[in-house]
Amino acid sequence: DAGKGGYDHYMLKEIYEQPTALRQTIRGRTDPLKQRVDLEELPPGTFSGIESVHLVAMGTSYHAAMYAQSLLTDRGINAQAYLSGEYGSNPPPVDDRTLVVAVSQSGETADTLSAIRAIQGTGARTLALTNVVGSTVTRECENTVYIRAGPEIGVAATKSFSSQVATLILLCERLSHATNGATPRSTSDLFDSLAVLPDDVQQILDESEAQAVASAYHDCESYFFLGRGVGHAVALEGALKFKEITYDHAEGFSAAELKHGPLALVTEDTPVFAVFTGRDDTKTVHNVKEVRARNAPVVAVTDGNHTGATEYADHVLSIPDTHRDVAGILANVQLQLVSYLAADMLSRSIDKPRNLAKSVTVE
Ligand code: AGP
Repeated sequence: DAGKGGYDHYMLKEIYEQPTALRQTIRGRTDPLKQRVDLEELPPGTFSGIESVHLVAMGTSYHAAMYAQSLLTDRGINAQAYLSGEYGSNPPPVDDRTLVVAVSQSGETADTLSAIRAIQGTGARTLALTNVVGSTVTRECENTVYIRAGPEIGVAATKSFSSQVATLILLCERLSHATNGATPRSTSDLFDSLAVLPDDVQQILDESEAQAVASAYHDCESYFFLGRGVGHAVALEGALKFKEITYDHAEGFSAAELKHGPLALVTEDTPVFAVFTGRDDTKTVHNVKEVRARNAPVVAVTDGNHTGATEYADHVLSIPDTHRDVAGILANVQLQLVSYLAADMLSRSIDKPRNLAKSVTVE
């Protein structure tokens, strides 16, 4: 209990540690004046000649990888996130113009190590993105970038996701400056948003309406999470966190997919969390109207800049106005709080959910 620092659970402590963790992640890595990223761990030329990026990961780390896929694609770089457990069994073609990024909090996930081993000897370049200094993945990859989140004890990954995504934003910027034909997004807006990201997370922790949402809906049996672009990755992560610690059914999907199947499951008893991150928000508002027409309760996670997002919602979880590449980190913090508070009201074993381990070291 001493290690919990007065919090009821490690998970809650780690959620509240996110402003500090993010300061550590970003510190010394951005030069706002030159609008450049400096990842000093990477030798010069690390990315020269890279034409495509494969991101391999599992669970929450896979959702961070999906987030990065969206950012890289937006910058004109060929990028694909893969479940490392699938990649290791059936690796796609790679060569010396391919960068394979292993995203793993622990650096010990067997599926992710297996994916890296599967492409050894092909000429593909490998990069570990991890939290744990000296972990196995750092020895298996040519280069390593640390996310600097600090130790994470709770089985449910929280601060590591935020720090993974923040590090991946920096990596995407660095890559886009090094890749021919790419379009860097290093506007002052992005650097300004990264600089205030820890304070924006703190504002959410201080002012969140998550308790009202958890109180209203924690007795339901099924929950849906939807979003587009980076919001799709956040929707999947929101659902994973929710199912992992509440033991209730929760499903995340791209809002674009709603009418292609999931809508059949939507009823007045299935709360729908809609994540708005500034990408195609108008289309997501249409999806919200569709679920409202089936009487589903709607929780909008939004900065409120798109009036339609709040107009049709039963509850709003507000995020500060920020760059759209960063908005998903903030939206995810709101969803972490809802999952934690709902699981706590259900008296679940939050730090050690049934059947789950912090690090999955067998395939
Ligand atoms: C998420 O809350 C879980 N702890 C799990 O999905 C985890 O992200 C996954 O097992 C990957 O672990 P890693 O980041 O240590 O590789």
